[in-house]
Amino acid sequence: MSVPLLDLRAQHALIKDAVLAALMPVIDDQAFILGAPVAKLEADVAALSHTKHAIGCANGTDALLLAMRALDIGRGDEVVTTPFTFFATAGTIHNVGATPVFVDIDPKTYNIRPDLAAAAVTSRTKAIIPVDLFGQIAEIEEIRRLLPSMPIIEDAAQTIGARRKIAGEWTMAGQTATIGTFSFFPSKNLGGYGDGGMMVTQDDALATRLKRLRVHGGLTTYLHEEVGYNSRLDALQAAALVAKLPFLAAWSAKRRENAAYYDAAFADLADVTTPYIDPANESIFNQYTLRVARRDELKKHLGAKGIGHSVYYPLPLHLQPCFAYLGYAAGACPEAERAANEVVSLPIYPELTRAQLDEVVAAVRGFYGR
Ligand SMILES: Cc1ncc(COP(=O)(O)O)c(C=O)c1O
Repeated sequence: MSVPLLDLRAQHALIKDAVLAALMPVIDDQAFILGAPVAKLEADVAALSHTKHAIGCANGTDALLLAMRALDIGRGDEVVTTPFTFFATAGTIHNVGATPVFVDIDPKTYNIRPDLAAAAVTSRTKAIIPVDLFGQIAEIEEIRRLLPSMPIIEDAAQTIGARRKIAGEWTMAGQTATIGTFSFFPSKNLGGYGDGGMMVTQDDALATRLKRLRVHGGLTTYLHEEVGYNSRLDALQAAALVAKLPFLAAWSAKRRENAAYYDAAFADLADVTTPYIDPANESIFNQYTLRVARRDELKKHLGAKGIGHSVYYPLPLHLQPCFAYLGYAAGACPEAERAANEVVSLPIYPELTRAQLDEVVAAVRGFYGR
């Protein structure tokens, strides 16, 4: 039996009626741009994230871009971030005209090291972008402790609904950042039927600015206070996401259950390190990522057995050809580079059956001769 890395059709089959019922009124109204479904999703995501504001936009990449623009980050500025993330985190820093400054990750959580982020700050640094990788929140409160007045843009594209205990209180992804950003890319825990994104903040002035930036920099028709973007969230996407949101908590809990199943099944394999979840975190396991010996051979073996898998991410961003101008050499971020050579992500989606989980387990155990 082959097992895909992700099976969106399996999820769609379970929620098809609810999603189609949500889409039809938008189609009947022919009101596709912003409007009630977007406002409803914004209210729902703000409630989930314990934030005062949520502002929908076209995708998670634009959410980062708009967040930086709202913080007046541009030419000559530096933004400190992790090299072990999806490209958008740093691509957007470049695209606002600023310089990405990469610092290494914690080898256990794969998230940015707050001490290294603080050490990289210069007079030009305008923000830190920690990424909540694979579903667990970065050490935002430690970054805040080290850099009390530095804006933090939390790239929570992979982490909507994840929680972190700070000083004994549960906080949500995006809640404690200056601006938090989400992606509704279909493979995310809350995925749309196309692209979508959202920004959350507790700050009234930033919220107004973000709303303005997503509609060409003007909240009054044909009056533009600044140059912004066309980065609206589609009403159809918002309607589908409103219909899906009530399922999110159960889906993420099922992913945690699947992760625990794998953890137990791989516990005796010396060549396999299962994901480390910081005790302060409740991960939503957007990815279940192993660190393994002989990674590339394991990949071949999984491929031959029909087990879906992927490497997130094979080349850290500081070594990407497009960032050669920044002058980073191999060895600059050794933990990110080591992770890139050793990680592999397995199917973790909530609709996996026990038989499929066992198939994945057997393939991995078989490779290591157990
Ligand atoms: C960490 C991270 N940042 C940003 C993005 C960009 O989101 P989008 O694909 O919605 O533009 C993604 C996902 O694709 C991501 O995983």
